[in-house]
Amino acid sequence: MRKPLISANWKMNKTIGETEEFIRAFLPLVKDVTDVDIIIAPPFTSLSAASGLLTGTGVKLAAQNVFYEEKGAFTGEISPAMLLASGCSCVIIGHSERRQYFHETDEVVNKKIGTARKNGLEVILCIGESLKEREENRTFGVLDGQLSGSLKDLTLDGITIAYEPIWAIGTGRTATKEQANEAHSFIRGWLRKNKESADSIRILYGGSVTPENVASLMSEPDVDGGLVGGASLKPDSFAKIVTGAR
Ligand code: PGA
Repeated sequence: MRKPLISANWKMNKTIGETEEFIRAFLPLVKDVTDVDIIIAPPFTSLSAASGLLTGTGVKLAAQNVFYEEKGAFTGEISPAMLLASGCSCVIIGHSERRQYFHETDEVVNKKIGTARKNGLEVILCIGESLKEREENRTFGVLDGQLSGSLKDLTLDGITIAYEPIWAIGTGRTATKEQANEAHSFIRGWLRKNKESADSIRILYGGSVTPENVASLMSEPDVDGGLVGGASLKPDSFAKIVTGAR
């Protein structure tokens, strides 16, 4: 049985003060939740403050990105060791916004996952097709290419996959639970064929997850949780998603 996992992805939102305010309001709302794993991914600048409040609570801390080199002359970049020292145990890699706005390729994503895993960070790898690709019936081909490129020469140890159809991100247009499960079961089939231990890997759905639709998405056999953007920015809404995932 795979334990449900719900992760917040705050993107470029919340100052240190706003982060602390969120966490202080959120923790009491989920204090009795032991059957869902919870992750929060604030921006880099809030990691240390968040870590101070989350330590000992069971809620894990993730970063939204990491660089693939360990240290050196890479102005503006953040290393795995810096994330670990800021209290992170996890990092989101390959989000479609990174691919779209910062030109991250599967090759870059692959290098980032390799360095993150080498340093002991767990990874949430994001993949997903655009609307055009879906309309041209290329969804499975796109997922296949992203999985092969991103996971090249890597084991699945410490990796969670997030299926995020780009057309559903921040649009309010959620994939139907059938569309989500179809993609998730394709992904699990791919992992089973090309890697090891696919049955224990969690596959999260991301794209306009809300308190209203989380239970329906979670009712599908291959949907193991959610990566939540917009609806994770308010403590009560994110707490409802966590409790709705049970
Ligand atoms: P959304 O974002 O929930 O706002 O659609 C999800 C994501 O990009 O991870």
